Amino acid sequence: MAQEFKVTPWEVSGIVDYDKLMKEFGTQPLTDSLLERVKKFAKGDLHYLFRRKIFFSHRDFDWILNEYEKGNKFFLYTGRAPSGHTHLGHLIPWIITKWLQDNFNAELYFQMSDDEKFYFKEELTLDDTTRLTKENMLDIIALGFDQKKTHFIINTQHAKIMYREAAKVAKKLTVSTAKAVFGLSDRNNIGEFFYTCMQSVPAFLPSILKGKNIPCLIPLAIDQDPHFRIARDIIPKLGYYKPSILHCKFLPALTGPDSKMSASEEQTAVYTTDTPETVEKKIKKYAFSGGRDTVEEHRKLGGNPAIDVSYQWLTFFEEDDKKLKRIYEDYKSGKMLTGELKEILIQKLTKFLKEHQRNREKAKKVLNKFILKD
Ligand code: TRP
Repeated sequence: MAQEFKVTPWEVSGIVDYDKLMKEFGTQPLTDSLLERVKKFAKGDLHYLFRRKIFFSHRDFDWILNEYEKGNKFFLYTGRAPSGHTHLGHLIPWIITKWLQDNFNAELYFQMSDDEKFYFKEELTLDDTTRLTKENMLDIIALGFDQKKTHFIINTQHAKIMYREAAKVAKKLTVSTAKAVFGLSDRNNIGEFFYTCMQSVPAFLPSILKGKNIPCLIPLAIDQDPHFRIARDIIPKLGYYKPSILHCKFLPALTGPDSKMSASEEQTAVYTTDTPETVEKKIKKYAFSGGRDTVEEHRKLGGNPAIDVSYQWLTFFEEDDKKLKRIYEDYKSGKMLTGELKEILIQKLTKFLKEHQRNREKAKKVLNKFILKD
């Protein structure tokens, strides 16, 4: 029997049925013919997160490509709510964003919603979210975004330009819509109701700053889609293009394929600041295995990559299709044991994190240059 699952901007639980979710949310599948067009614009290259349909769904992405074809360039927008250290799952939408920036020569507006986590997390103060904003920005810069074309918007710091526009959105959003879309109730605080207006603004703020209407493309994990259902309804009423969305799947939690990683549960995630020893320990101890109970059985029956978290994680981080296919086949046939598979993942992540942590250190020197000048 199909399990219940839940996907909202504040909670993801259960085994997500992505086809069902697309139907529920009313989004479109990212088809091969759309991806062919992306590939053409990217000089024959298609990012592995597209190739593997980890980015799997969209709203009006065809329109963005049509406009681009006509010479009407888009800007990119995505964001991060600073609630804790960055984990590997957070990086997925940002990795594709960087690739899109490079291949489409696009400006990026990156929102740090420090107000959001202050409203939604009882235990966090504004000082906490300010500190975490800085920490998280280092992870974003470390991915290699172009300094000249990347602009952080920090909600509380950029209030001067943000508030005017958020007010325009707020006036068109009723409490009953916010309740219906987000499942908020009378017990939620007023900031939680208002917040979505702040998340709408960067989808049209560049049009205001540049004095002309510019298409907007938002790569995100699909739990964030509800915000933009509202935004897409309201923004055209303010005279700007409806933003277009690209949705990705969630990196499964280390402890099992049935949930998103949580920044508050240490053993479910690998953080960008984890040491090689910690990475090794976490994967060996917690990574949910699709292997059999005994080596004998495993050799005979083979492992199950569909539920094996180490294999799943490799689909998110191993760029080489051939290598991945070999791992899949060897594991499925029983030739490769869980321990060996985990070792491959440990090597991959350790290498990735070593480089990331080096870039993260360097990012400290240039952080201020990335913050939008207002
Ligand atoms: N609400 C997002 C989160 O909880 C952060 C965010 C702000 C965001 N603006 C965005 C995410 C735009 C995707 C796109 O992490």
